[in-house]
Amino acid sequence: MKVTVVGAGNVGATCADVLAQREIANEIVLLDIKEGFAEGKALDIWQKAPINLYDSRTTGSTNDYSKTANSDVVVITSGLPRKPGMSRDDLIATNAGIVKTVTDNIIKHSPNAILIIVSNPLDVMTYCAYLNAKIDSSKVFGMAGILDTARYRAFLAEELNVSPKDIQAVLMGGHGDTMVPLPRYTTVSGIPVTELIDAEKLNEIIERTKFGGGEIVKLLGTSAWYAPGAAAAQMVEAVIRDQKRIFPVCAWLQGEYGMKDIYLGVPVVLGKNGIEKIIELQLNDDEKALLEESAKAVKSVMDVLDNMNVNA
Ligand code: LAC
Repeated sequence: MKVTVVGAGNVGATCADVLAQREIANEIVLLDIKEGFAEGKALDIWQKAPINLYDSRTTGSTNDYSKTANSDVVVITSGLPRKPGMSRDDLIATNAGIVKTVTDNIIKHSPNAILIIVSNPLDVMTYCAYLNAKIDSSKVFGMAGILDTARYRAFLAEELNVSPKDIQAVLMGGHGDTMVPLPRYTTVSGIPVTELIDAEKLNEIIERTKFGGGEIVKLLGTSAWYAPGAAAAQMVEAVIRDQKRIFPVCAWLQGEYGMKDIYLGVPVVLGKNGIEKIIELQLNDDEKALLEESAKAVKSVMDVLDNMNVNA
């Protein structure tokens, strides 16, 4: 199996490293526009193979898309990351142009690939890739929900002093401040989380989760990469190994949750065909209202993109 990761920055390189380390694909191509950058990172990852004992062959390329030909899965991380004070939406103009160019080149060389988008603003860049790729929406989707849910699970594990492995949760909506954590669907080894934590503390954790990306931008002066890179790799694994895993994924909705023509985070089944099923939860009125508010925020940025005419 062949996986390409476009963008050899922090998120892309971390994703490629996890893919190699866990032997998720036997061939991994890292591509970047900066001369020698992807080659250097790929070489470093490959030179770790004899130490950490893996076979995945990792190579790099400076903008030569012929090297990515016939990839089974492509992860697109290209674009500028956030600086302190910027929202993910502030990146739209620059990153839409980049995502369009990357998508066009990728599809030219790998028309059957499944595309996983990581560039921000996430929901809208996934939409941008979908418009330009012109392939079925089951094969174009975005990584945000696994990351946002992981932050929520990590905070809960810390608060409850239990293993993060035992926290199960799902978080829906856009990858922004309007994301919708769902306490009703959060359990600790099957125990409803509400039996283990008081409402006020849970609320604090939900609020911290919504701004989890911003918390790291403030600390580092740029956005996160370890968890985002690992989250993208986990999605690649679900596809390559046909695992049929259930993850919150940014997916194209065509009537699900009463919404149409919008990319939004929802639980899906991920397998070799990409999104094999969108799961419709029975949301209560409050949850529905929060999801609709989040959809409105995403749609307004999608409209900005539509008006920019960067798409084919
Ligand atoms: C974050 C960026 C990657 O949430 O969107 O950290």
